[in-house]
Amino acid sequence: MLSKKMEEALNDQMKWEFYSSFLYLAMAGYLKSKNLDGFANWMTVQMQEESAHAMMFFNYIDEAGGRPDVRAFDQMDNDYKSVTDVFAKTVEHEKLVTRRINDLMDLAVKEKDHATTQFLSWFVKEQVEEVAEPTKILNQLKMVKEQGNALMMLDRELAQRVFNPPAVAT
Ligand code: FEO
Repeated sequence: MLSKKMEEALNDQMKWEFYSSFLYLAMAGYLKSKNLDGFANWMTVQMQEESAHAMMFFNYIDEAGGRPDVRAFDQMDNDYKSVTDVFAKTVEHEKLVTRRINDLMDLAVKEKDHATTQFLSWFVKEQVEEVAEPTKILNQLKMVKEQGNALMMLDRELAQRVFNPPAVAT
């Protein structure tokens, strides 16, 4: 059974995961407008992953005896200077999400809520990848300085990404 405080914190994180989903779809829209369809594909897959994360919170809150409370959020900052700027903002966003997940884990440990600790451990591990992947793309973008051929090669590579639902998603 979730404490009221834990239920509130999990619902707040569910909102953040849905927010992440919209943020990445907004970024995909910007990338599409620049004819970078491969980069847009990568972001669209990211959007699908975030929706799956949000639904993992939704299902867990329900199973643990709480009420999944779906909340609206404000319009996100949707102004980008370049594709490099998009990925720099992605890395920053994922670092923020990592801090939030770690805070949630601290709360679950403090409350001796073993089931929630177990649930969150998947996200702790996932966040390592969530920061590493866009960081790698950001570093590649910095290396090629957004120059024509190299940018197109990267775009073609990112066009290959496909969505695989997390194995634990219910
Ligand atoms: Fe749901 Fe990108 O973390």
